[in-house]
Amino acid sequence: MAIRPRRSALYMPGSNARTLEKAKTLAADVVIFDLEDAVAPEAKDLARDQVMAAVAGGGYGNRELVVRINGLDTPWGLTDLARAAEVAPDAILVPKVSSPSQLITVGQALAPAPEKTRVWAMIETPLAILNLREIAASAEDPVTRLSCFVLGTNDLVKETRAALDENRTAALFWLSAAVTAARAFGIDVLDGVYNAFRDLEGFRRECQQGRQLGMDGKTLIHPDQIAPANEIFSPTEEEVAWARKIIAAFEQPENQGKGAITVDGRMVELLHRQMAQRTVALAEAIAAKS
Ligand code: COA
Ligand code: MG
Repeated sequence: MAIRPRRSALYMPGSNARTLEKAKTLAADVVIFDLEDAVAPEAKDLARDQVMAAVAGGGYGNRELVVRINGLDTPWGLTDLARAAEVAPDAILVPKVSSPSQLITVGQALAPAPEKTRVWAMIETPLAILNLREIAASAEDPVTRLSCFVLGTNDLVKETRAALDENRTAALFWLSAAVTAARAFGIDVLDGVYNAFRDLEGFRRECQQGRQLGMDGKTLIHPDQIAPANEIFSPTEEEVAWARKIIAAFEQPENQGKGAITVDGRMVELLHRQMAQRTVALAEAIAAKS
């Protein structure tokens, strides 16, 4: 089971050279070089040049490098995509994906790029929520290279006119639907950003909630958010100990061939062993990073 931890995915405005450099020293699992919403129209060309130079130049260690391009219906999108394909980041993040056809177009344009370059899709329009199943299912078509969803909760709030309380009540449907669709087709899914980046208490609460909903990690806007996201999206020591106990229990001679056993007074089934194996694999992948 090869698991890539994606607990923390930090956006950097492609136009801000300082942040692109700074990311080389930050403990984010993923860095997202943004050419889209964080970059003003006048700065699009500069941002593109800076981002491609940064990706080609390297120095980011084992951080996963992702380039968020502009939409293909904008004046910049096609050039962003062609230039990104040349520098071959780990993934290209496509904004405002609302149907599989956009991913097929991107995938076809990416054909010359190495296989390692995957495609991630922003889920941030009402139509994307309605089409989640078809969008996620397009991961089965190798042309799309689709391997991860990223929630764009700010755009969803704008488009739906919802207002989010501290429990994100209005967003629960979007978040759960995205997790469910991602899991149905074996892709990862990252939660949206927390705008009030000085409020680390509120941020931690939202990370916990995202984790409880099944998210693999959270997208971030500020370095201060990295450590709490890494902590909260890592299995805890107790979870890892419990997982190891379940795996060990199934290995006992008296439990061979059994589907359900008792561990510490709880029923444990083979499905729990599979969950335990994933927990241990994720913990080991995280430990291997440092
Ligand atoms: N990535 C990397 N480094 C970042 C960063 C980011 N997203 N945000 C801030 N930093 C760096 C700053 O450059 C500064 O570094 P320095 O002190 O070594 O020079 C340090 O972290 C502290 O920054 P701070 O002064 O607290 O924040 P700021 O006022 O400079 O920036 C924002 C605040 C919100 C403008 C900035 O965090 C940002 O641009 N975030 C990303 C926005 C984005 O990409 N949005 C699109 C997706 S929603
Ligand atoms: Mg957006």
